[in-house]
Amino acid sequence: MNNYIQIRNKIRKFKKKIEISGDKSISIRCVLLASQAIGVSKIYNLLESEDVLNSLKSIKRLGINYEKFKDYYKIEGLGLAGYNTQKRIKLYAGNSGTFARLILGLLANSNNEISVVGDKSLSVRDFSRITDPLEKFGLKIKSNKSKLPVKIKGSNYLRPINYFEKLGSAQCKSAVIFAALKTPGITKIIAKKSRNHTELLLKSLRFPIKVVPKKNYDIIEVKGQHNFNGFNYRVPGDISSSSFFLVLTLLSKDSELIIKNINVNKSRIGVIKILNKMNAKILLKNKKKYKGEETSDIIVSSEKNLKGINCPKSLNSSAIDEFLIIFLAAAKAKGVSTFKNLGELNNKESPRLDIAVNFLKKIGIKVTRKKNDIKIYGNPKLELNGNYHIKNFKKDHRVFMMSCIAALSLGGKWKIYDTDSVNSSFPNFIKIIKKLGANIN
Ligand code: S3P
Repeated sequence: MNNYIQIRNKIRKFKKKIEISGDKSISIRCVLLASQAIGVSKIYNLLESEDVLNSLKSIKRLGINYEKFKDYYKIEGLGLAGYNTQKRIKLYAGNSGTFARLILGLLANSNNEISVVGDKSLSVRDFSRITDPLEKFGLKIKSNKSKLPVKIKGSNYLRPINYFEKLGSAQCKSAVIFAALKTPGITKIIAKKSRNHTELLLKSLRFPIKVVPKKNYDIIEVKGQHNFNGFNYRVPGDISSSSFFLVLTLLSKDSELIIKNINVNKSRIGVIKILNKMNAKILLKNKKKYKGEETSDIIVSSEKNLKGINCPKSLNSSAIDEFLIIFLAAAKAKGVSTFKNLGELNNKESPRLDIAVNFLKKIGIKVTRKKNDIKIYGNPKLELNGNYHIKNFKKDHRVFMMSCIAALSLGGKWKIYDTDSVNSSFPNFIKIIKKLGANIN
């Protein structure tokens, strides 16, 4: 099979209701916490993507059994000291920064050296942001110049730490919280705002974690060494995966889309706030609360009058995975859009800020860049009719999906490589765009 797709026609108008697979961040956290609970957990609507499957295979290597049933995964945790680390083991994280970083926290009490390795893209990403705070707990870590493979040997004498998380990284915050679960005493974290699924999940398990929200940061206290029981959890749909369909609908003619039961946690809906500031009228209907998380249906329709935005930096963290697709909306909006302080984008699955700038120029959009700030000069009349080949993007799933949306909404003849990249977060992506009427070879 060729590992590329061809798109030669814009999508025709559509009016549909769709469901999107489970949230990736919550799925990985459910697998990891279920592996540390005492007894059986049942996780419904778990995202079956490579990042999550690699998490499941890894807990199995650590001696935790799981089994797939028709609509849930059963995971049999053995408590906070339940991983079997009697042997040296290698864990394969694939493309998943979240799994690789969070599992390091849970290995704080391992008996032997455990290695974590990843694919090409993950192997060039920084791990010092995780290993520096974890070393303060008193465990031993070796890395390849701050990159994978990371080898970690836990300690029986962990000590609680005070940690200031200033990147706004939920992965850093969560890795430290996970190490704190194993550590006697109280670990204190001051964390710049970022997605808070770990905290909410632990609260729903009645784990002694206290969160005091301040305007720009949270003060978190974790009282370690409390076992918790197995749990049932139904993972809501993924807002990051949904965002591609939000922009596809906005940029297509006379279309309407309802996306059912999506996680709309405040720390994740930057994309909706930003698009609405650009004149979109995205609505949340049927709001519900589930174990501390907010969910709702999302309703979106075509918008001919998108306008540029001076994007507040305060929204960066809550839209961190959605900027590629937001930039595409800005390319078709009236006026100039400004985005600032987006250096973190270059630390993702690919250097996304660099790739985005090149991509926008390739489709004829003027972009200026000063370090980590960019200006996009939107063109509401943008229509493409050239040939576009998209490759060498380090198999970044989100670059692939954004390119498909560009092809389906702007025209032109496209060949987009590395189709299998979608498997890391959203294996159903192609199936769903086809369901909306896309003509894809
Ligand atoms: C994630 C946190 C974010 C995000 C990633 C998933 C998580 O990374 O980009 O896709 O599940 O905690 P950072 O924490 O590095 O910002």
